[in-house]
Formats: sequence, structure tokens, C-alpha cells
Amino acid sequence: MRVSEQPLITAEAIAARVEELGRELTVRYTGKRPLLLAVLKGASLFVADLARSLPMELELDFVQARSYAGTRSTGSVALSRAEDLEVTARHVIVVEDIVDTGRTVEALLERLRGLDPASLALCALLDKPSRRVVPVQPDYTGFSIDDHFVVGYGLDCDGLHRNLPAIHVMEQ
Ligand code: IMP
Repeated sequence: MRVSEQPLITAEAIAARVEELGRELTVRYTGKRPLLLAVLKGASLFVADLARSLPMELELDFVQARSYAGTRSTGSVALSRAEDLEVTARHVIVVEDIVDTGRTVEALLERLRGLDPASLALCALLDKPSRRVVPVQPDYTGFSIDDHFVVGYGLDCDGLHRNLPAIHVMEQ
């Protein structure tokens, strides 16, 4: 497989959309000191930009979730650092790179619901609604895309391509 030459979503389009998401979140969360909880490793670049588009007091934390091997979803989800999360009575915004089958983020949301946050929202850079197995819907979505396996801006294929500034499709 190789990385498409042309980006599916350019770095400029990503930057513009992240600014818009920042404005939407600012309307809802100013004064609430939200906790941005980013899912490692894929959301690391997205949350770095998103956090800087939010002109308010906030906290930033990370959780790791694993469900993919190569380009295939494994169906089971392992969370690490979940027991350290201090989310009770906090306004939590889960920041994900992509919602595909929905299994990963639903496992995380389920765990967080059990910890009694004041509110819980999901902000995903990318959404692949046609692939959904678990009925989960992001509250904030950067871009809705067709069923492609994509890399770049934090997203990987077997550990590679996270550093690409734009989103590209993996082609056969
Ligand atoms: P889900 O559990 O099937 O929703 O998968 C979510 C996780 O799988 C994401 O957080 C990504 O880490 C990974 N993933 C899903 N689709 C893609 C993709 O197109 N490119 C890279 N990673 C992906």
C-alpha cells in the first residue's frame, strides 16, 4: 500500500476547520474549565492545535486506546491510563482522531460515564459513518469522510505517516 500523492484534506482545510471547532467549543465551554481528554496516539496533533484554538482555562490529559492492527479493526479495545483519569464532576471533551466502527471511543465513553463527569462530549477530527458498528455520534466533527483508510495529521498505518501535515488515503 502507498500514500496517495494528492491529499484528501489539505493542511489549510484542516487548520481552518480546527479554528471553527475551537469557536464552537468556546461558545459552550468558556468558564467551565473543561478537560480535553485526547486519545493517544492519533489525536496528539489534532489536540495540540485544538487546545491552542481555545482561549480559556482548560486542562489537557491523555488516554491510550488500541484496536487496530495495520488497516484492520481488531474488534477488541484496550485502554491504558484509564484508572488515573480524574474526570468526576468535570466537563470532559474526548478528543479523537477518527471514529470508524465506533468501538474504541464507545469503550472509552462507557468507562468515563461510570466516573460521573459533569458533562461528556466527543470531538472527532474525522468521522467514517458508513463503517459504524456501535451507535456513537460525535458531538463535534471536523470532517465526515467515505470509507477510506487515511493517514497523516496524527493518523498512522502501522506506526507510519503520522507526521504528514495533510490527510492522505492509503492506496493499493
Ligand atoms: P474504531 O474503534 O473502529 O472506531 O477505530 C478507531 C481507531 O482506529 C481510531 O482512533 C484510529 O486510531 C484507528 N483508525 C480507524 N480508522 C482509521 C484510518 O482510516 N486511519 C488510521 N487509523 C484509523
